[in-house]
Amino acid sequence: AGDSQQQSWVLMVTAQTPTNIAVIKYWGKRDETLILPVNDSISVTLDPNHLCTTTTVSVSPSFQQDRMWLNGKEISLSGGRFQSCLREIRARACDVEDSKKGVKISKEDWSKLHVHIASYNNFPTAAGLASSAAGFACLVYALGKLMNVKEDESQLSAIARQGSGSACRSLFGGFVKWIMGKEENGSDSLAVQLADEKHWDDLVIVIAVVSSRQKETSSTSGMRETVETSLLLQHRAKEIVPKRILQMEEAIRNRDFASFSQLTCTDSNQFHAVCLDTSPPIFYMNDTSHRIISIAEKWNRSEESPQVAYTFDAGPNAVLIARNRKAATLLIQRLLYYFPPNSDDLDSYIIGDKSLAKDAGINGIQDIEALPPPPEIKDNIPSQKYKGDVSYFICTRPGRGPVLLTDESQALLNSENGLPK
Ligand code: DP6
Repeated sequence: AGDSQQQSWVLMVTAQTPTNIAVIKYWGKRDETLILPVNDSISVTLDPNHLCTTTTVSVSPSFQQDRMWLNGKEISLSGGRFQSCLREIRARACDVEDSKKGVKISKEDWSKLHVHIASYNNFPTAAGLASSAAGFACLVYALGKLMNVKEDESQLSAIARQGSGSACRSLFGGFVKWIMGKEENGSDSLAVQLADEKHWDDLVIVIAVVSSRQKETSSTSGMRETVETSLLLQHRAKEIVPKRILQMEEAIRNRDFASFSQLTCTDSNQFHAVCLDTSPPIFYMNDTSHRIISIAEKWNRSEESPQVAYTFDAGPNAVLIARNRKAATLLIQRLLYYFPPNSDDLDSYIIGDKSLAKDAGINGIQDIEALPPPPEIKDNIPSQKYKGDVSYFICTRPGRGPVLLTDESQALLNSENGLPK
């Protein structure tokens, strides 16, 4: 980064990173600053075509300070979590040379150069869909590429972890385990891939974005209160999760949906039980969430083997994992039967992989009105419907890990001045 004539260059990298849903939950830290968990966790990476973060990072000698824009709005980078990620990535930066632009940055220069970061979620941040997981994973991945960091994805995951715990699992596609680690400095608390997304590609995922008025307790403060007050969490972390992790790994290895589904549902329910065991108690699920659990449980019980797994994070949204496409069409019929849309605009009610609704015979509002009640409730009292209680559905599947986007048109920053496009 030499004389005044070269001060105008801007170097950039754009990456895309998926979000993930835990099937064995992370809840509780043993170290708040380093973000070290009290137990291992396992997640499924969601298809970035439907849910992902895109981040462009850039460096230029003309930048006066580190700056970041999220969904077009400038946000502060002064928080400890951003600072940890920036510090850790800079510490691992290497020489970079771009002969086309005539740029040469030596390892030592990185501590003096400032970065501009622009990040964009392809899904509404307000929906409560783990935007911090994809966000920090993408930030760390993109900065790692920009600064020619030689570390592998697992080592990068230990940096992303310091942005947000669940972010470490977004450095890989498919099925991912976050190993809690033993070291006090957190160096062995990182993510590893258990299997890639092709290993079990029958699975179909439907997310019900549940309407809610209240602002939920943040994961960070919620889990702090749980650690301080819940004895059930101690039991969960020590006695339950270690065995469950082994069982889940085996279920994934064998594509054993019955075990996978049983473990996923039971772990989600225990996580919410631990929230209820917190003082004062934390409620993340609402009536709609509970109704979705009942629908899934009733259906699973009426079949010879489970057809769907459900799991809920720190909010009321349901993530439903169907064993295959056939089961997913039967699931979407049930969901649309109970939760018809408020308006006629089906196109914005079922998003993501819209072909799933088509396969389920749903092409318009009239097809939803014509849906028969699911057979498993036949002998029961006439079932109620809950129009408007689900905001929309996202149809997706397990997906791949982070990728670089090499096409400059996909960059979020202007290559001339490093400001948002
Ligand atoms: C319920 O990763 O958001 O989604 O580490 O404090 O940033 P921080 O928390 P975060 O917590 C996620 C909790 C969860 C379960 C999970 O993803 O494993």
